[in-house]
Amino acid sequence: MSLSEHIDKNRLPEHIAIIMDGNGRWAKMHGEMRIFGHQNGVSAVRATTEACAELGVKFLTLYAFSTENWARPQQEVDALMELLVETIGKEMGTLIENKIRLRAIGNISSLPAKCRRELAEAIQETQHHEGLTLILALNYSSRWELTEAMKKIAQDVQQGLVDVENISENTIASCLDTYEYPNPELMIRTSGEQRLSNYLLWQLAYAELYFTPVLWPDFNKEDLYRAIIDFQKRERRFGKTSEQVKVK
Ligand code: IPE
Ligand code: IPE
Ligand code: MG
Repeated sequence: MSLSEHIDKNRLPEHIAIIMDGNGRWAKMHGEMRIFGHQNGVSAVRATTEACAELGVKFLTLYAFSTENWARPQQEVDALMELLVETIGKEMGTLIENKIRLRAIGNISSLPAKCRRELAEAIQETQHHEGLTLILALNYSSRWELTEAMKKIAQDVQQGLVDVENISENTIASCLDTYEYPNPELMIRTSGEQRLSNYLLWQLAYAELYFTPVLWPDFNKEDLYRAIIDFQKRERRFGKTSEQVKVK
């Protein structure tokens, strides 16, 4: 019996965010170069995306490349960019078959031209899909995103478009790359690391965090189901008491 049967389909997280970590360690374990780990991570992306689409999860955000990842050896960075272009091309079938809408967040304009082109094309081709929205966090970091948002708000104030008194949480949220999407309720990080690494700091303010030792290339549908089942066992209190939350 699949673990998916233990999931309450009426209480699914609407938005899941994942930090796909552990590709390098997975490669090392297999006596291979780091890029071999990244290549093998693609099947986990496919499995996770398909599982979310099948379950009826509405949004899935995957951390694919952080602004800090540029500091890795040039050879690895180049290989990752190449893999991104290749994967988008190869996975168009999966996106179409599952009616998945592809989107991206992050400093996309600073990605290599080839990546931008491939990404723009896939986003355009899938824009009418009404199934899962798959959001790739590419050249993304929260501090970059928040800095950009603050610049935008400062400009609006300077031009007299916004009153300082009227700046609200919504003003800030609407200036983030994620302005169109609800906040993730569940954040999963693989590979045993327990940190956020500059990922969706604003958006994850009240998310349930789930850490698993599974390395990303080994992560499969059952691992995702396990995370969702764990999420569904938690009591989300949002500052209230347990008694208050239980009153329906
Ligand atoms: C995650 O795996 C993929 C990216 C950051 C692009 P890592 O490459 O970070 O793998 P480890 O953490 O070195 O094992
Ligand atoms: C976070 O993983 C970024 C992505 C998964 C793309 P890292 O492996 O880069 O994170 P740190 O630097 O170990 O925290
Ligand atoms: Mg890592």
